[in-house]
Amino acid sequence: MSKLKVCIIGLKGSISTVLISGILQSVRNKVKPGALLTDLPVFDRLGMVKLEDIEFGGFDIRDVDMYTSAIENDANNILRLDSDLDIKDKLNAIPVFKGITMNSGDAITALAGEDASLQEKSMINTVNQIRGTLRNFKGSDNCVVVNLASTEENVELSETHSTLEKFELAIENNSKEISPCLLYAYAALKEKIPYVNFTPSIGSEIPALCELAQVNKVPHAGKDGKTGETLVKTALADLFVIRNLDVNIWYGANILGNMDGKILDNSKNASTKIESKKSVLKKCLGYEADSKVRIEYMKSMDDNKVAWDHILFTGFCGAKMMMNFTWFGIDSFLAAPLVIDLVRLINLANNKGDCGIIDEFAVFFKSPMGTDLNSLVRQYQNIEEWAIKHYTNEAENA
Ligand SMILES: NC(=O)c1ccc[n+]([C@@H]2O[C@H](COP(=O)([O-])OP(=O)(O)OC[C@H]3O[C@@H](n4cnc5c(N)ncnc54)[C@H](O)[C@@H]3O)[C@@H](O)[C@H]2O)c1
Repeated sequence: MSKLKVCIIGLKGSISTVLISGILQSVRNKVKPGALLTDLPVFDRLGMVKLEDIEFGGFDIRDVDMYTSAIENDANNILRLDSDLDIKDKLNAIPVFKGITMNSGDAITALAGEDASLQEKSMINTVNQIRGTLRNFKGSDNCVVVNLASTEENVELSETHSTLEKFELAIENNSKEISPCLLYAYAALKEKIPYVNFTPSIGSEIPALCELAQVNKVPHAGKDGKTGETLVKTALADLFVIRNLDVNIWYGANILGNMDGKILDNSKNASTKIESKKSVLKKCLGYEADSKVRIEYMKSMDDNKVAWDHILFTGFCGAKMMMNFTWFGIDSFLAAPLVIDLVRLINLANNKGDCGIIDEFAVFFKSPMGTDLNSLVRQYQNIEEWAIKHYTNEAENA
């Protein structure tokens, strides 16, 4: 099977370095990393790309080498990278391209090192450079672009984003309404490279980019990986629906300490994430409960995340009952396997000729594109059916 090139936007970030280091160690030590949906027989029999056949490259805006960043990002020292010089060489050999910060707001611009980011004034030149970089990186191999960059400020949808023609005109006019995540997504889809948005930023969700994906027959999926509190929420919500128990209050408080948390400490960036987390509950329950989600940055938490949720619900004859749960997660280690699954699956979708939004991948996302389905179990049934459909077609065509 041919190799897969994965281009990561946010290459030096936590999820990215954990997933690349994890794959490199698993391949070297000839062990499975675990926690991959695509290793389950129903998916694996479709012929997933092997981990040793995946190559990485990507864009970032910070002046730090990959190995140093990887050590900082694995604050719990799970991968023991400080004593793994073989991984040091491999990480530092990964191609890193200069990222862009235009219109990305103060929190993200503050991260950027001058030499590590493109300072191009013209938006069209910038896009052309990114497209050229993607083309060279891809060569004649299969390729996927994944957005793992810091969460951008919320984008107000306008005429600019409504059609491909208007969007391309806005690029030529250096529009302030176009942020980096839109430009990266545009460049990928323009190059007919499948695109996954793991972040809450808008990415390929705008109508103009959905149109481009259809025109160029490219698959895309997103947005906002479902790894922690929301994962539990969308599994538990079914319990209340199935027993017809009325949820009155669902309050969730999250604390985290990594760089993602630091960016989310900025209210403009946090609103993108909170919106993504909040919208889920109504879609699962079918009605609006009194619900709040809080995210706080506590530096000493490092990559660890704790979520406390309090649920008040009403049962038979108005009986009030409650449930509390605490989730202790290690953010990047929960996210990394999902990203590996997504790149394998979207590559497969592309090779099978699927295009446009692949809404069957909703099981991976907090705000799945192309569907309102948020129940975890139903989302899983959908992706399983998708896999069975492709397997059956393959068997019939063999
Ligand atoms: N960890 C999780 O469980 C989880 C779940 C869902 C979504 N997410 C989202 O995934 C994204 C990545 O998370 P993380 O923990 O790896 O974050 P991180 O802060 O560790 O890494 C983000 C990286 O993106 C880079 N970056 C920022 N803007 C860029 C740009 N315009 N171009 C290129 N690179 C850019 C930064 O320099 C940094 O290296 C975040 O948006 C986060 O909200 C994470």
